[in-house]
Parts: sequence; structure tokens; C-alpha cells
Amino acid sequence: MDFFRYEDGALKVEGVAVSELAERYGTPLYVYSAGTLEHHVEQLRTAFARHEPVICYSVKACSNVHILERMAGLGVGFDVVSGGELYRIVKAGLPTENVVYAGVGKTEVEIRFAIDNGILMFNVESEPELREIDRVARGMGKKARIAMRVNPNVDAHTHAYTTTGKHENKFGLTIEKARAVSGKIASMDGVSLAGLHAHIGSQITSPEPYATALERVVDLMLEIRSESLPLEYLNMGGGFGANYESTEQALQPTEFAKATGPAVERSGARLMMEPGRYVVANAAILVSRLLYDKEGEGKHFYIVDAGMNDLIRPSLYEAYQGIWPVKSETEPPFRGGREAPGGVLCDVVGPICESGDFLGRDRKLPAMGEGDLLAVYGAGAYGMAMASNYNSRPRPAEVLVDGSSHRLIRRRETWEDLVRLENEV
Ligand SMILES: Cc1ncc(COP(=O)(O)O)c(C=O)c1O
Repeated sequence: MDFFRYEDGALKVEGVAVSELAERYGTPLYVYSAGTLEHHVEQLRTAFARHEPVICYSVKACSNVHILERMAGLGVGFDVVSGGELYRIVKAGLPTENVVYAGVGKTEVEIRFAIDNGILMFNVESEPELREIDRVARGMGKKARIAMRVNPNVDAHTHAYTTTGKHENKFGLTIEKARAVSGKIASMDGVSLAGLHAHIGSQITSPEPYATALERVVDLMLEIRSESLPLEYLNMGGGFGANYESTEQALQPTEFAKATGPAVERSGARLMMEPGRYVVANAAILVSRLLYDKEGEGKHFYIVDAGMNDLIRPSLYEAYQGIWPVKSETEPPFRGGREAPGGVLCDVVGPICESGDFLGRDRKLPAMGEGDLLAVYGAGAYGMAMASNYNSRPRPAEVLVDGSSHRLIRRRETWEDLVRLENEV
């Protein structure tokens, strides 16, 4: 559920009209709903209540510091994959005691920064990385808490680029390798093994892969747990699917909780999770303006002012993003509303010089006029976080709506911003 609704023929975010935000802050514009973010965290907490999980919001999904502040306000920790993501948390003065740090290529500088800032643990992805963390921590006179990220060789049935738990993927240690490595950890002075971790992919819409992965991880956990390796944490990663194409399509978190419950019980460990997309995807829209209504040869194009640099998911993963005019008498069909009567079959494309620059293809949209606004739904996760300056386009502004109030949480970049670093040298 989210808080984007049509009222009196126009789209509102919580208590604020989208047209008012576009007028005030310009387009393209990311608009977040604080109420939706909070609701999604609450849904996860309720579904997994029996296990009282440590929820670590995955910063990579949407890393704006004001969103991170909101998350910290809900008592949520963080999953980071770079020193830069951790820097955002530290710089904002947010707690680091529930920060977990994954990623296959942590550098010495990043490891040192994480230890200095007292994170909860590293999710270790290889034996050489483990040795490096051990070396750095010993050099600092510290012991770093770690979890081994296990690659359970489970197909998460998602896009190939967002599958992370198969042997052909670069992530984690195989079960055999993790077993072998666990035998060496007790003799390392710079690290202590606090848990096991598995993250098998993103936009997962079936509970079975989680259940299978966790059963395998828990088997290993029970096998290697000992006095010197107490393994207090079982981290199931993130990956819960968000609704993109319909309000009914994605699975409820209760289904994931039900499927994984037996393994979690068996582990006797504290459950952790790292949701990103589930929390933030449907908590934002990207608002764009129709620039040109172009009749091509056998193809109609709505050329809008947002492109693949602003939202790359359609181009990168051929991902579906719901698109609908901001002025409309009905909810969009992908949100339970009606098809557009006498609508226009079109490709919604951006201004970037690539044929792969599209937000939606072969969409039936109501007829729109140049200058009209449209909303791209489900844009909160891997939207602004993956935006770039390609074609020297300044990145969009971001706005956070909370009830009937709204505020800028990232100003729009300018042409001056584009050249600032080059002119500084
Ligand atoms: C280690 C780890 N945890 C959590 C996540 C968050 O995934 P999602 O946004 O699908 O929940 C990712 C994303 O790739 C990840 O790599």
C-alpha cells in the first residue's frame, strides 16, 4: 500500500497535489512519501514480529541522507556496500551500531573507516577479504565482528543482473568454502565470527528460494556453531519484491515470514534482514513533463523531460515502470483503474541520445498535450540512486512529502555543478 491517489481528477501524494510540487520545484522531480516508507517498514516488522528482526535498510536502494534519517527515526539500521554509503550515515550523525557492511571489494581505507565508526559487522565475501579485515583490525588493535556471506547456490528466479546467490555470481563463499574458512577464524586475532549472511537477489516474488537458501545456511550454522564461534545472527539479506505492474502482484511479507520461519526457529539465532526495494520502490514517483508529442513512422512517441540518466531501470533491466498522467479522472490500469478510452499507444522516451532511452514502451496512455505532467510509478528504489549525468544532464531534485507538508531533500543540479570538479583542478 502507498499514499499516491487520484482525487478530483489529479494525483496527490499524501495531502499534496503533484502539480503543485512540479510548479514549485520543476521537473523531472522525484517525489517521496514519508507515510509510505513508514508503512512498508511497519509491514515488515509485523510480518516477522515473532522473530523481532534487526532491520537494516539497504542504503543502495535510495541513499538520500534525509531518507536515511527517516529510517533511523524508525529504529532501523543500515546495510551498506561502500565507504561512501557509510560516510552518508556518519556524516548525518546517525547511529552506526546496527550497520552491516557487504560488498566484494572492500578496500583498506573503507575497512578502517568502518572499524573506526563502530559498525555492527562486516559481511565477508571471500577468504582474501577476511584476511585483509583481520590484518587491518589487528593493526588498529581491534577485533572486527564479521558474518560470512554464504552463496547457497539458489536461483531466486529474478533478472540475471539481480541474481546474487548462484555459484556463477561473484558474491559470497560457497557452503564448502565457508565451512573450511570457519575452521580458520578462531585462530585469527582481528576478527570474530558473529553470524551467517545470505542475500540471493532482488525483486524476488516467491518465498521458496528464501526458504531453500535459509535451510542450507542454517544447516551450516548448526554444524559450525561452537563456543568460539557462537553465531548469534542469521542475516537473510534483502530482495523482497515490490509491486510494479499491479497492486496485487507481489507477495506479502507474511508469506516470506511463513516460509522462512522454520529455518529461523531452527537456527536459534537473531534474525536480520536488509530490505531496500520493498521499503522504498513504491514510496516515490518520478514526475516528468511531456515535451513533444511526436508521430513517428508506425510509432507514436511521447518525448518527456526525464531520461535514462534519471531512471535507468527500464533501459538496464527492461523493467516495467507504471506511467500515467498526473491529471486523470481514474487510477491507472496498473493500479486497478480503467484503460484510457480512446487512448494513445506510444513509447514514452527521454531526451538522451540512445535508442535504449525509454521509460515505457507500447503503452496505452490517455491523450496528453505538450506541457502536461506524467508520473512514473515505483521509482523510489534504484531510481535516483542510479541516476547519472550522462549527456551532461543535471540530476533531478528530490522532495519529501509528509502529510500536507513537503520539503526539498536534494536540490536540482545545475549546469555549473556539471563542470565544478573539472574547473577545480
Ligand atoms: C547485500 C545486499 N543486501 C540487500 C540488498 C537489497 O536488496 P533489495 O533492494 O532487493 O531489497 C542488496 C541489493 O542488491 C544487497 O546486495
